[in-house]
Amino acid sequence: MNELIFESFPKLNTQRLLLRQITQEDDQSLLEVLSDEDTCKYLTHNAVNDIESIKRMIAGMQSFFDEKQRIRWGIAQKTDNTIVGHCGFFDIDKFNCSAEISYCLKSGSWGQGIMTEALDAMLKFGFEDYGFNRIVAKVMKGNAGSIKVLQKLGFVEEGILRESLYKNGQYHDLIVFSVLKSEYHT
Ligand SMILES: CC(C)(COP(=O)(O)OP(=O)(O)OC[C@H]1O[C@@H](n2cnc3c(N)ncnc32)[C@H](O)[C@@H]1OP(=O)(O)O)[C@@H](O)C(=O)NCCC(=O)NCCS
Repeated sequence: MNELIFESFPKLNTQRLLLRQITQEDDQSLLEVLSDEDTCKYLTHNAVNDIESIKRMIAGMQSFFDEKQRIRWGIAQKTDNTIVGHCGFFDIDKFNCSAEISYCLKSGSWGQGIMTEALDAMLKFGFEDYGFNRIVAKVMKGNAGSIKVLQKLGFVEEGILRESLYKNGQYHDLIVFSVLKSEYHT
């Protein structure tokens, strides 16, 4: 694993997007993403409606990066540099060279291939620059758009973690997907 990637925040460029660090200046844009009920329906947390929680979240992202524990990128369109979503690695297992990903996009930007483009760049970075061997994603049953994105990127379904997420008074099944370095084509 290449720990040097934590020396300065790694920006990723794609055809239409800039994946960059989220700063406190992005608080309103991130609030717009995370206060959207549709966007949060299949996330582990509910919609976030207050700017103070968003500010704490951004500070938390920066601390996790400084402590070399997690990386989360803001997804900005190159046209205006405004954050429309985020994606990142967490549960980084340095011994086994694996991590889990999570991602979300505000509903007004769905269906334009944005997340496929963002995650493709993130996976390339994860396998080639950071040195992961295995990348995992867990999806709530019913999140067809997310499953489609993972399949397009070469993720394979491994099985179901039965009732492993408790949200809003109910247990939910999570479907586990993974992609290995040996399977990932750049
Ligand atoms: C899931 C999500 C990340 C997809 O982002 P996106 O930028 O819209 O995804 P893309 O446009 O790259 O690809 C979506 C694909 O799923 C398909 N799709 C979308 N909704 C679908 C549905 N309900 N049923 C079947 N396919 C669906 C699209 O047609 C597209 O496939 P295509 O390229 O073959 O046409 C986005 O909807 C999102 O952030 N949702 C809320 C947060 C979330 O669920 N995060 C994931 C948690 S695991």
